[in-house]
Parts: sequence; C-alpha cells; structure tokens
Amino acid sequence: MKKAIIYYYTGTGNTRIAATEIKRCLDGKGYATNLYEIRKPGRAVPDPNDYDVVGFGYPIHAFNAPQLFHLTIKHLPNVDCGKPAFIFKTSGEPFWLNNASSASIIRFLKWKGFSVLMDRHLLMPYNILFRYDDALAKQMFIHTRMMAAVIVHDILDNKTTKRTIYPWTWLVMRLLRIQWYGARINGPLFHARKDKCRQCGLCSKMCPSDNIVYINGYPKFSFDCSMCMGCVAYCPADAIRPGLINPLRVHGGYPFTRLLADDSLASDFINENTNGYFRSFRNYYRKTYAEIERVRSQERDMLISPEETAQSQFNPVEFGCDMPAFEESP
Ligand SMILES: Cc1cc2nc3c(=O)[nH]c(=O)nc-3n(C[C@H](O)[C@H](O)[C@H](O)COP(=O)(O)O)c2cc1C
Ligand code: SF4
Ligand code: SF4
Repeated sequence: MKKAIIYYYTGTGNTRIAATEIKRCLDGKGYATNLYEIRKPGRAVPDPNDYDVVGFGYPIHAFNAPQLFHLTIKHLPNVDCGKPAFIFKTSGEPFWLNNASSASIIRFLKWKGFSVLMDRHLLMPYNILFRYDDALAKQMFIHTRMMAAVIVHDILDNKTTKRTIYPWTWLVMRLLRIQWYGARINGPLFHARKDKCRQCGLCSKMCPSDNIVYINGYPKFSFDCSMCMGCVAYCPADAIRPGLINPLRVHGGYPFTRLLADDSLASDFINENTNGYFRSFRNYYRKTYAEIERVRSQERDMLISPEETAQSQFNPVEFGCDMPAFEESP
C-alpha cells in the first residue's frame, strides 16, 4: 500500500481541518496517510523518505508561514530526488500578497530533493482581527472539504499548479517577518485575568509552542509565543488578554458542527452579487468552484455534498483533553 504524510502546523484548528480532509481523500484513494502536527517540544519528526507523497500545511501569519513550521521544514532530511510534495495554506483573505508566504518553503523543499507539485491556498475564517459571519464560516468549511478532493485528484494526476511570486510581494513578505519577533516580544505581555480564569489547564495543553506554564495555579506566558491565537480563542472563560494585540482578539472557535446543521444559514455567503469588503473574495470562489466542477464527475466519492456535510459531526479541535463546548459563551 502506498503511504502519504502531511506535516502541518495549526493554532486554532483551521489547518487541521484542511489536513484531515486531505487525509480523508488520500485514504479514499488507497493511501495510508499519517498526520504529523508540528508542536513544541518536538516529537521525533517522521522521515519523509518513508512516504510516497508528502504534504505540508500551515496558516498564513502576516503574509508568512509561522516560524516553527519554517524551522521544522528547514531541518527535514534530504529525500530521493523528485519525491512528490504539495503545500496548502489556510488564511482569512484571498489577497495575492499571501502567495509569497510559501516562497522560502518551496525553496527549502526543492533543495532537499522534493518536486513541489502544487501550492494551494484555502480560505478559512479569521482567528484574529474580527470574527467572520457564521454563514461565511459555513461556506468556507464546506468549500475546504470539497477542495481537498480537488487537491488529491490533482496530486494523483501529477498536475502542477504554480504560483507567480513577484519580487516586491516577496519583499513585503520578508519585511513582515518581523511578526515572528513581535510575537516573541509580545508573548510575556499575555496574561490570564484571575477573576475569570477557571484554572482548567486547557491553554497550556493546546499551546503549540509550549509557551505556557502554571504558577500558583494560573497560566504564565513566556517569550516563545508564535501568536497562533489558539489559547485566546479556546479559553472557556475568555480570560486571556494577548498583550498589545488585545483589540484584535477573536474569542471562541467556530462551531462548525452547529453551523453545518443550521439550515437557516445559506452556504453561499460569497456569491456573484457580493459587494463591499468581501467583493474581492468573488474571484477566488468563482475559480475554485469551477475546479470543483472540473473533478466532480470523476471524484463523486471524495466530494462531499453540502447536504452530506451537514449530517456530519465535526470537532475541529482534538487536543486529547476535554474541550469546552464551542458554543459556550464566556
Ligand atoms: C498572527 C496572525 C496573522 C495572520 N495574518 C494573516 C494574513 O496575513 N493574511 C490572512 O489572510 N490571514 C491571516 N491570518 C488569519 C489566519 O491565517 C487564518 O485564520 C487561518 O485559517 C488560521 O489557521 P489555524 O486555525 O490553523 O491556526 C492571521 C492570523 C494570525 C493569528
Ligand atoms: S484556558 Fe482559560 S480558564 Fe483555562 S487555565 Fe487557561 S486561562 Fe484559565
Ligand atoms: S501562548 Fe497562546 S498564542 Fe502564543 S503560541 Fe501559545 S497558544 Fe499560541
């Protein structure tokens, strides 16, 4: 049996959803697919040489890949020349500036011997700045599930998708890498409000950077923060205040299971008539829905219809510990 592995990083679960969906589709095509979530302290990183196809997924942070993801990829061993690899990245906006975020990743992977077949951008709801409307979150989730089928179809078809990275988008990306260092400086400014904190320990368990310790029963944040916003989003008591970026905090994960089951929510929040802030999303959805149509007749088993998706129970965050109900209000 052929084997695949997906290395991914996530803060609030969106990229885990995309990775899980791509795994579902690869498994459906007869692959045995492993998921490896990049976290600190580093567990032994699997050797990509043991796999036939290798995927890499990350959320875009300030037009860049997160530093921990970057470092993990940089330290992977070399592989047999031409090993097929693919990249997927999740982010809240379709802006072309996001394209450059994978430039260094592609370079590292090529140096190591991978043949990077594709670099796909999947829209998922914002976990910072402001909360997306429930109907848009629902549309993004359903769309990502369907795009997983397109990605797997194209990988197995050896189809290559290239992105154009202009020198000045690359320059903006490099300048905004300051976010990596800003996150570290801002890290110790995070604090949990003692009047709200329930001392449940969840924030420490879910932190991908191992940045939270407990002192006298309360979380204390250190310099290793990657600003993933996981602790802020999922603290059941909305107790965490993330230092200088507090005005940008979004509390509460997106309750995908409830949104999918809610028939009153349409799944075409972005459509041909969308105007205002989200107008720029129209082109992204126009193009990718056309791709879904392109593979529909061949990939009926992998493509989950919105109706089937609505039946499924989906928990985007599985940390091996008891999670608060996502719908629970602070
Ligand atoms: C610090 C930070 C910076 C972000 N920067 C961008 C950005 O430059 N462009 C964008 O479209 N989304 C940006 N986002 C939104 C995330 O990329 C998006 O919500 C992503 O799906 C989160 O994935 P995760 O749940 O796997 O962590 C940013 C999020 C954070 C926390
Ligand atoms: S997740 Fe929230 S309530 Fe739980 S320990 Fe952390 S700050 Fe306190
Ligand atoms: S401290 Fe919070 S925001 Fe920073 S890396 Fe850990 S979970 Fe993410």
